[in-house]
Amino acid sequence: MRHVARTARLAGRQAMARAFSEGKKPAKLWGGAFGEATDKTMELFNDSLPFDKRLWAADLAGSKAYAAALTEAGVIDQDQSTKMRQGLSDVRKEWADNKFVEIEGDEDIHTANERRLGDLVGTDVAGRLHTGRSRNDQVATDLRLWLRAEVHALRGLLRGLVEDARDVAGSDEAQGALMPGYTHLQRAQPVRYSHWLMSHAWAWTRDAERLDALWARSDRCPLGSGALAGHPFFDENQRKKLSDSLLFKGGPTPNSMDSVSDRDFAVEFTQWAALLGVHLSRWAEDLIIYGTKEFAFVSFGQRYSTGSSLMPQKRNPDALELLRGKAARLAGHQATLTSLLASCPSAYNKDLQEDKEPVFDAAHQLRVALEVARGVLTTTEIHPQRMRAALEPAMLATDLAEHLVRKHNVPFRETHHVAGAAVRLAEKENTSLAGLSKAQLATLHPAFENDSDADVAALWDFDRSAESRDAQGGTSLRAQKEQVAALSAWLERTRDDGPSPDAVALVTEP
Ligand code: ARG
Repeated sequence: MRHVARTARLAGRQAMARAFSEGKKPAKLWGGAFGEATDKTMELFNDSLPFDKRLWAADLAGSKAYAAALTEAGVIDQDQSTKMRQGLSDVRKEWADNKFVEIEGDEDIHTANERRLGDLVGTDVAGRLHTGRSRNDQVATDLRLWLRAEVHALRGLLRGLVEDARDVAGSDEAQGALMPGYTHLQRAQPVRYSHWLMSHAWAWTRDAERLDALWARSDRCPLGSGALAGHPFFDENQRKKLSDSLLFKGGPTPNSMDSVSDRDFAVEFTQWAALLGVHLSRWAEDLIIYGTKEFAFVSFGQRYSTGSSLMPQKRNPDALELLRGKAARLAGHQATLTSLLASCPSAYNKDLQEDKEPVFDAAHQLRVALEVARGVLTTTEIHPQRMRAALEPAMLATDLAEHLVRKHNVPFRETHHVAGAAVRLAEKENTSLAGLSKAQLATLHPAFENDSDADVAALWDFDRSAESRDAQGGTSLRAQKEQVAALSAWLERTRDDGPSPDAVALVTEP
C-alpha cells in the first residue's frame, strides 16, 4: 500500500518535471502540494489580477532588477540572465501595447507576468526568477514602485494648484477686491480676495510637504526579504545593491518580517489623500457659497459647470460639489486601511491584498480632482463690486474699539464694550454704525470728544481697516505681496523634494 502510494507520488513528480521541461506548467504556480482544483467562486474571490494589473510595469521593473541581483549572486548564469531580461522586456511590450493575454490561472499580476515569461523563454529560465523571492516581498516592492510614480505626478499637480493660486492672488484684481471675511459664516472683518485664496493655498503647501515627507519615509526596498525570514542566496551586500538598482533612496528595509508586513506607506498615503480631500472640499464649499446668486462674489467658468435637465436657468457648480463629495470617499479609504491592518497578525496575510484598491482609487481620484481644481481656480471670475457691496460698517466695530486703544490709550476690554454699545445704539437709532454722530459716540465714551469729525469719519473706511492689518500674515496690501513672495519662495525651495525623475522613469519608461 505504502509502496503503491510512493510509486504514484513518484510518477506524479516525474510527470510534473516532464511538464515543466516541456514548457507546460501546473495550473497554479503554487500548485505542487495541491491535488484538488480550487473552487471556482473561491478563485474569483482570491484573484487580484482584475485590479492589480495596473502594477504591471512596476512588477516587471522589480523583476528585471531582481533577475540582475540573482545573476550577481550566481543563482542564474549569464545566458539565462540575458534570456530572462529579453523575456521580461517582451512581456513589458505586450502590456504596453495592450496585447497581454490573461489566461485562467493568472491569479495576480505577479503570477501572470511569471507565467507569460515562461511562455516566452521557457520554464527552465523563467522558473528561476522566483528563487528566494516570495510574492510577499514582491508585492510590497511593486506597490511602492507604483506609488513612487503616482507621488511624483500628484505632487506636480498639487504644486501646480499652489502656483495657480499664487498667480491669481498676485493679481491687482484679487488684491484690490475687498470682501467680507466670515467666521461662523457671519460677516466678520474685511479681507482681500487674495488673502482668502491664499488661506487655502497655504493648506495645500502643507499637503505637498506631507506628501514629500511620507514618501521620504516610504522610499525603502522590501525586495530580498523572501516570504518573511530573509533571503537564502544573497550575501550581506546584495539587498543594498538591489535597492540601489531600483533607486530607493532609503536603502533596503531593515527587517524581513516587517518588510512583508508593513503597509504604513499605504496608510500614510491614504491619510494624506484624506486630508487633501478635506482641504479641497473646504475651498470648494467656500466657492459654492460665494457663487450663489445671494452672494454673487464669483461666477464659475462654463467649462466646469453643468446644467439642469429640468430647469433651463440653472448653472450648477458640479465640479466643486464633486470635489466636496470626494472628501468623503477619500476619508473612507484611510479608514479601510487602518482597520484592515489593525486586525492582521504580523508578516503577510492575504488581508493585505485589500490594501491596493483604496490606494489606487485615492491616487486616481486625486489626479482627476486636482486637475479639475486647477481648472476651476483659473477660470473662476470674480466680482469685486459685489464683494464691496457686501461690506457693512458693523464689520468695523472692532476698528472702532481699536481706535480708542490706538488714539486714546483705553484698555481693549473696555473699548470692546464701548463698540458693542455703539452697535446697539445704531440698531436702536435704526442707522448703521457709520451713521452715528461724534456726539452720539461721545455719550458712550468721553474720549470721542477729543476726536475731530474727520477722525470719526475715517473710522468707516474699509480699505483703511484692511491696511491697518499689516503684520506678517495680515490682509494689508503689503502683507499680500509678502505672502505671494513667500509662496513663490516655498515653490522654489521645495521644487526637488519628492521622487527623482530617474526613479519614476524606472516604472514609466521601457
Ligand atoms: N496578490 C497578493 C497581494 O496582493 C500577492 C501576495 C500573495 N502572497 C501570498 N502569500 N499569497 O497581496
